Amino acid sequence: MTRKLFVTTALPYANAAFHIGHMMEYIQADIWVRFQRMQRDGDAPRTVHFVGADDTHGTPIMIAAEKEGITPQEFVAKIAAGRAQYLDGFHIAFDNWYSTDSPENVELSQGIYRKLRDAGLIQTKIVPRFYDPVKGMFLADRNIKGECPVCHAKDQYGDNCEVCGAAYQPTELINPFSVFTNATPILKDSEQYFFKLSDPRCYEFLKEWLNTPGRLQPEMVNKVSEWLGEAGEKLADWDISRDAPYFGIPIPDAPGKFFYVWLDAPVGYLASLKNYCDKQGIDFNDLLNDPATEQIHFIGKDIVSFHLLFWPAMLKFAGHPVIDKLKVNVHGHLTVNNEKMSKSRGTGISPLRYLNLGMNPEWLRYYIAFKLNSKVEDLDFTGEDFVARVNSDLIGKYVNIASRCAGFIAKKFDGKLAASLSEGAQGWIKRALVTADGVERQASIAANFEAREFGKALREIMEIADITNQYVDENKPWILAKDEAKIAELHDVCTAALILFRQLTILLSPVLPGVAANVAKFLNDEQLVWADTDVASGAVSQAMLGRTIGAYSHLMTRVDAKMIEELFDAPAPAAAPAATAAAAAAAPAATLAAPAAGDIEALAPEIKIDDFAKVDLRIARIVNCEHVDGSDKLLRLTLDAGEGRHRNVFSGIKSMYKPEELVGKLTVLVANLAPRKMKFGVSEGMVLAASAADEKAKPGIYILHPWPGAEPGMRIG
Ligand code: 2FM
Ligand code: ZN
Repeated sequence: MTRKLFVTTALPYANAAFHIGHMMEYIQADIWVRFQRMQRDGDAPRTVHFVGADDTHGTPIMIAAEKEGITPQEFVAKIAAGRAQYLDGFHIAFDNWYSTDSPENVELSQGIYRKLRDAGLIQTKIVPRFYDPVKGMFLADRNIKGECPVCHAKDQYGDNCEVCGAAYQPTELINPFSVFTNATPILKDSEQYFFKLSDPRCYEFLKEWLNTPGRLQPEMVNKVSEWLGEAGEKLADWDISRDAPYFGIPIPDAPGKFFYVWLDAPVGYLASLKNYCDKQGIDFNDLLNDPATEQIHFIGKDIVSFHLLFWPAMLKFAGHPVIDKLKVNVHGHLTVNNEKMSKSRGTGISPLRYLNLGMNPEWLRYYIAFKLNSKVEDLDFTGEDFVARVNSDLIGKYVNIASRCAGFIAKKFDGKLAASLSEGAQGWIKRALVTADGVERQASIAANFEAREFGKALREIMEIADITNQYVDENKPWILAKDEAKIAELHDVCTAALILFRQLTILLSPVLPGVAANVAKFLNDEQLVWADTDVASGAVSQAMLGRTIGAYSHLMTRVDAKMIEELFDAPAPAAAPAATAAAAAAAPAATLAAPAAGDIEALAPEIKIDDFAKVDLRIARIVNCEHVDGSDKLLRLTLDAGEGRHRNVFSGIKSMYKPEELVGKLTVLVANLAPRKMKFGVSEGMVLAASAADEKAKPGIYILHPWPGAEPGMRIG
């Protein structure tokens, strides 16, 4: 049977540009998809449909659009227009990129809902819902933050915890606050629609679904089994409705009620597929009904409850045909220098900055792939490690083979490879491609790609490169080339090395599609096909012997370590040596002393250590940041200094930072400064920032940002 794969990545919220965590997931899925596209089932090529979409609905996007004075549709269209530069830039080859705000999604979401209702799995209840008394609206789960009731991590969303992964109700959060106004939410009654996950049918189904061998990673089976409880007693009904005003899909026969964004978001996978099918003339229903079709989602560990409880149950009881072939591949988070990142907070690396610096996207694809396995483990990006890995493997091992051998073929043999190989050369090819116990490496590499053990696959590929380099080192074509009597030997060695180079390129092509396309051109291959990696059939050498190849041009440069310095979000450097620490607080800047010699602000009178000790400086996390209506200087910061409460601090840094750049970042707070009443509210402290003595000559104010490892609440001194 020819496998038909319907593959997706999590649909990103259409409220911000992609961050590096998105790219990690897309690269992972794209590598898997590219590998699958090269496979055949019998004589037929495997079919793969790889689709994505923007996750457009929900309150945050509605509010963001309102702030910009545009409609939510205009807002998400703007975000959608920015997607291609990232996807194309990193060679992510989705077949279709669509939107959950689409007619297909309305039809499919409402259709699924009606089937769930007909199956007796929808129930209404009057429930108290959180309401922001300042803003005058009901609050979505993600508009409420607070302390996780399970692991007590601070600053977690109202639906699930990004630290321990627990799913809960916003009512269970400790010290909840509205992300819009910081007000403590109040409870107000509202009629809500629930999906009855507590129905015994759901438990029976989920238990079996989860435990089907090979479907889910073992860690996920364990986690979700815990959520089910012994007999499903832990499964709670899921509130799928939200009150107007809400940017979403109307619930049929329920005026003023909309589907909660997480109800229609995963349906967006199907909507994007349907849109693609319609454009391609593929029958969507036939595809879903085809027993050969497998539905595969790549997602991060923070959204497993939605994908491993609600989504499969929805599909099952809506009669979705491929539920038996639904698979969810969960990955960990990307950390940078071991610092945790989160999709809703800032990130250490901007993918666009990476591209704009002229960094090769395939370096990142390789590095990420090298560090990936099939487990739910975090993946750490470290600059030095990145430089070392890419330069050693891709340049030192892989590209090196072609750059050492291709020139001789062009110069000495008119670009023509030898028509046959010596036994010695054949022996080396076999040694490189077949293990001592007779297993073809390409087969285990393929198995590792299939199992998403990309790191293992790449390590094996690099073993082939090592043996090939050893062959070149021992035979030294640059010495052979100096002796006319050794011309046949030179031809033999360079041909064998390039045969192995082509093999390496085919095996690497899911990871390095751009390089592979250039190599295909240089080797005069119309297309690189996986079947050519087969050693037993002789395919590896056959197609290459006697072939005329093109001129070699350099395939990839080394990573320059200096690029890494530019890559990270560093605090913007103050124009040295002019800047001095100055408070960038609610209070207007203190009167500046006359510039001292050297053009810096004069030092303040000397103090004793006891004087300094009076100032209590603490690390604080900026959990929220907003513009202040009516002020062109101030930003309103919500700070967590580890005290179990949040502080409201106004800071005069608006000219330098966008609020979204600061959210999630650490900074320094003067924690024992008396609260100060201002026109816009009370400022409970002050954050530190640097500015030049003469702000007109050197404008700019730079907020302090501690090194990784500092945590909210730590005292500075
Ligand atoms: O967590 C998120 O970014 C969600 N927008 C993911 C949605 S995945 C799917 F369900 F659409
Ligand atoms: Zn938690």
